[in-house]
Amino acid sequence: MTRPALPREFAPRLIEWQRRAGRSGLPWQGTRDPYRVWLSEVMLQQTQVSTVLSYFPRFLERFPDVKALAEARPDDVMALWSGLGYYSRARNLHRCAQVVMTDHAGIFPDSAEVLQTLPGIGASTAAAIAAFCHGERISILDGNVRRVLSRLLAFEGDLAQAGPQRELWDMAQALLPVTPTPDDMTAYTQGLMDLGATLCQRSRPACANCPVQSLCRAHRAGDVQRFPVKTKRLSRKFERWWLLVLRNQDSPGRARFWLERRPAPGIWAGLYCPPVFAAENELLDALPERMRGVLQALEPVAHSLTHRELHLHPMLLDLKSESFEPVAGRGQWVEADSLGDHGLPTPVRQLLARLI
Ligand code: ADE
Repeated sequence: MTRPALPREFAPRLIEWQRRAGRSGLPWQGTRDPYRVWLSEVMLQQTQVSTVLSYFPRFLERFPDVKALAEARPDDVMALWSGLGYYSRARNLHRCAQVVMTDHAGIFPDSAEVLQTLPGIGASTAAAIAAFCHGERISILDGNVRRVLSRLLAFEGDLAQAGPQRELWDMAQALLPVTPTPDDMTAYTQGLMDLGATLCQRSRPACANCPVQSLCRAHRAGDVQRFPVKTKRLSRKFERWWLLVLRNQDSPGRARFWLERRPAPGIWAGLYCPPVFAAENELLDALPERMRGVLQALEPVAHSLTHRELHLHPMLLDLKSESFEPVAGRGQWVEADSLGDHGLPTPVRQLLARLI
């Protein structure tokens, strides 16, 4: 099949638009320091800019360079990541810093090709780092950019499949500016991100303001919403968890909670959580008879993960002065004041905050 020629005007228009109207002044822009760019790109992989804006400076203050991060305790990395979700990113971040120290003399590799051999750095993140830091002529292709380019080209391939993904990647490469300076590559890469995040959104795209509207084949066909074409839908498995929330308030205003570290591998591996049970009667079986009557069922909480829909059923047990440890050796009492020093999954943090 012959395809229509790719629009050569795309790159210059995108660069001009980004410089004039794109996002600027974000704390990870205006630097070519690979540590900062890498950290921001990993944080931004699945998290909105508005959230990353508060996490990024806190993380940098605590771990100002790759050496400091490599030498950190895993629990400290998790605590600073707590609330950002997708915790495998934090574990990979830590491992990646260690690999950069041991295998690359503390210096991030320059090329996207080598960057993507590091833990947690996929092809698109590697391209972003290489383009922003070194002006490498390579295209990013994250979810937002796939949407932008599949609309621009009215690309009919099913992006749930590897073949069409590869084909779109090749076209993304062919759309790059022809002989870009490093600053051009920065503006182009940021422009792709900005277009996807601010105008070419999944629903109700703002085509009227789009700098490449006249080049966009989906727009010309009046069918922007049809792209990207995806046939396979991610189906989430539904799962119920019963949480035994043990609260000890032996002195007024000083709540403590019994928390266990979640085992690896699995959901929330390495994070702190009240003991989890797969069924209500398993939770009851873990308690002495006399405690079962005072158990309070709290409002269930729904929480979506990439491949799971979790329904959490918290059961609160107030221990007052009683010293009881459900599974000795597995967990610990954590003071309300020091919950912030522990990596807690967001719904657990929110739940405990209501119980202090
Ligand atoms: N999303 C991914 N990378 C980004 C960046 N550098 N700026 C804004 N949003 C992003």
